[in-house]
Amino acid sequence: MKDMNPDDISGEYREHTLTYQDGTQRKVLVTETETPLPDGRLIVSRTDLNGIITEVNQSFVEMSAYQKDELIGMPHYILRHPDMPAAAFKGLWETVQKREKWHGYVKNLRKDGGFYWVYATVIANIRHNEIVGFTSVRRKPSRSKVTEAEALYQTL
Ligand SMILES: Cc1cc2nc3c(=O)[nH]c(=O)nc-3n(C[C@H](O)[C@H](O)[C@H](O)COP(=O)(O)O)c2cc1C
Repeated sequence: MKDMNPDDISGEYREHTLTYQDGTQRKVLVTETETPLPDGRLIVSRTDLNGIITEVNQSFVEMSAYQKDELIGMPHYILRHPDMPAAAFKGLWETVQKREKWHGYVKNLRKDGGFYWVYATVIANIRHNEIVGFTSVRRKPSRSKVTEAEALYQTL
């Protein structure tokens, strides 16, 4: 995946190099600007078995600041924020591979370098008793849970 482009970033940023599970790396540019998810808004996406995005809804597009065609076909780690511990996603993948529901608090990285917090529920999509992909539905988390998650993730 291409490095983030300084021209897309609004305001001062810091640079991180992320290394993903598939061994690839990308330079990400991160600001301190939070975009809160409005109450009642649901962000939905689907992936294939490998976590490649196959479908997104309009709230996903708006909150991520990417265009829809920049998202479809990309790995879901396009949203990975450097403040998120790898352990959180390891737990997600282990849980959904077992066909169990995963819930968690996730800090996501926007195309403009800003971030947004979500409370995500991820499930496996089963057809004819086979996993054919995964779906995530996210809603606004409470501020107190975000504060707890921030503290926990700093320790991991
Ligand atoms: C349905 C589904 C939704 C996901 N949503 C996100 C997400 O919103 N943000 C994110 O950083 N990772 C999300 N992931 C996890 C990524 O696939 C990936 O594991 C994570 O970004 C960490 O990248 P890495 O495992 O390559 O290090 C999702 C995975 C699935 C299956």
